[in-house]
Amino acid sequence: MQLISRIADLRAALRAERISGRSIGFVPTMGYLHIGHLTLVKKSQQQCDVSVVSIFVNPTQFAPNEDLAQYPRDLPRDLQLLEQQGCDYVFAPDVDEMYPDGNGKTSAYVDAGELSSILMGRLRPHHFRGVATVVSKLFNIVQPDKAYFGEKDYQQLAVIKRMVADLNQPVEVIGVPTVREADGLACSSRNTLLSAQDRAAAVILSQALQLAQVLVNQGERSVFALREAVINKLQQEPRGQIEAVDIRDAETLAEIAEQLTAPAVLLLTVRFGNTRLIDQHVLRL
Ligand code: PAJ
Repeated sequence: MQLISRIADLRAALRAERISGRSIGFVPTMGYLHIGHLTLVKKSQQQCDVSVVSIFVNPTQFAPNEDLAQYPRDLPRDLQLLEQQGCDYVFAPDVDEMYPDGNGKTSAYVDAGELSSILMGRLRPHHFRGVATVVSKLFNIVQPDKAYFGEKDYQQLAVIKRMVADLNQPVEVIGVPTVREADGLACSSRNTLLSAQDRAAAVILSQALQLAQVLVNQGERSVFALREAVINKLQQEPRGQIEAVDIRDAETLAEIAEQLTAPAVLLLTVRFGNTRLIDQHVLRL
């Protein structure tokens, strides 16, 4: 495994791979890796000749009041995990390498369009612009054949797919199902920021998702009734503050008038202390 921190060095290494006819799979991350990230890497290894993982805590997707400074980091541990996994290249640039203007600023951004201003985009107004910008930069640097993203960040996956289609970026975006801890909590780097009590309480998210699927299986189709049931379930856990419960078309993220008629995605955002947890489940009819 090669660890590379300079854009020019990564480009040179990957140019050689490409000339040798090898396909390139890419997994962008912000590090503090867990089994969810490693599952994306595994998928890339199955489908591509060479796998590249980036580790970069991207300042442009955090608002000034958000947890950029607190975001957990442990590069030595991440490298060990990726080495064990048999990853080929790790790209871990510093902030100035990615944003030479300094302070994580850039003058050109990628506007990710309508999908970036709804749902989580309302709670975090510039978040998806920062994600679309850094992912485009990384795509331009790595030039992967395929890139892997988790369904856990469902709106992010939708934003990236749309960006790639609208801007004709020559990469295939592949979504990977959410990987969960034994009790059902979706694996997340942010889980380590939870107190022991909040960690135990956070299981309520996956329980609420499961409840919604059970109700759908029993024939419930009313978006209003499903949303109410999910909110009631989440309210059983007073440690969590509900920020958003949305049921949207699984394909377009459009609002659903009243009744489910096609697969819908249930999106949850619940805050425990200062830590915002998200989870999702596609409701199968
Ligand atoms: P990060 O939160 O580190 O996640 C990196 C990738 O891992 C994302 O595609 C995310 O959806 C996926 N992932 C996280 N938890 C997962 C889980 N439990 N199961 C499956 N996949 C999971 O998302 C980002 O970083 C950043 O926004 C990034 C795309 C790297 C841009 O900065």
